[in-house]
Amino acid sequence: MDKDHYCVMGNPVAHSRSPWIHARFAELTGQTLCYDKREIPLDGFSAGLRAFIQEGGRGCNITVPFKFQAASLATRLSQRAVLAKASNTLTFDGECILADNTDGIGLVHDIEQGTGQTLQGLRILLMGAGGAAAGVLGSLLDTQPAHISIANRTLQKATDLVVRHQALASLHKTKLSAHSLQGLEGNFDVIINATCSSLQGGDVPVDARVLKPGALAYDMMYGKSAKGFMAWAQHHGARPRDGLGMLVEQAAESFFIWRGVRPPAAQVLSELRQLVG
Ligand code: ATR
Repeated sequence: MDKDHYCVMGNPVAHSRSPWIHARFAELTGQTLCYDKREIPLDGFSAGLRAFIQEGGRGCNITVPFKFQAASLATRLSQRAVLAKASNTLTFDGECILADNTDGIGLVHDIEQGTGQTLQGLRILLMGAGGAAAGVLGSLLDTQPAHISIANRTLQKATDLVVRHQALASLHKTKLSAHSLQGLEGNFDVIINATCSSLQGGDVPVDARVLKPGALAYDMMYGKSAKGFMAWAQHHGARPRDGLGMLVEQAAESFFIWRGVRPPAAQVLSELRQLVG
């Protein structure tokens, strides 16, 4: 019997841990599938996607820089993909391309289950207003925090995110506000770094006074890219966490969408931590 075929598409994609993660999920849940990675030319996402569908692919994960195109090419979008305007999980059903976004639920699961920190009623600072921040804001609001402040170098982008998510925020009675990185007042229980300033060798772009003592300081990146932020958080008395758990949890949610089975994400995260050191 042919195995159901999935993949991750991106550029670059050589570093992706997704094939390893999904292979472990499949082994541990007794699912028969194969999952590989495809580096797609920067100007060839649509053609790459069609080719995979033609070959009989069942679904795929999408990573940088194609998440926005993935949402725009889909024939049906989940509510969380609509809010994010981006998709990291496509499922093929006949002629239909269904787009979802599991990044936000991956982040929330890793925080709430991985650290035991419930977000309801807390004050959260989300740093950044690009694709990474947009992908998680809806799910963060669903946890009903008291307040989410979005701070970004370009204030207008933070304001746009606030406008787009205002109805959901009102539904959950969460205060949602936009700020520049320098103009922040007060401190926060949880701060989440969704900027890519570390990739350019930059410092953490906010003052350490934003951290409440013992705050959770979460970087959505992992490995070398998260090191500067994690060291800064530790130095200022916060609890640092990198985004490796989010990576595994967003994959677990994709796996559930495709296979209807929840894989043991915590076990796979602990194995992956050993693997990446
Ligand atoms: P991603 O999909 O990873 O979010 P992106 O959409 O390009 O990538 O967004 C990058 C984010 O990092 C943005 O919030 C960006 O701020 P701007 O909107 O002002 O561009 C932020 N960022 C990038 N470099 C930064 C730096 N040196 N200092 C602060 N923020 C930075």
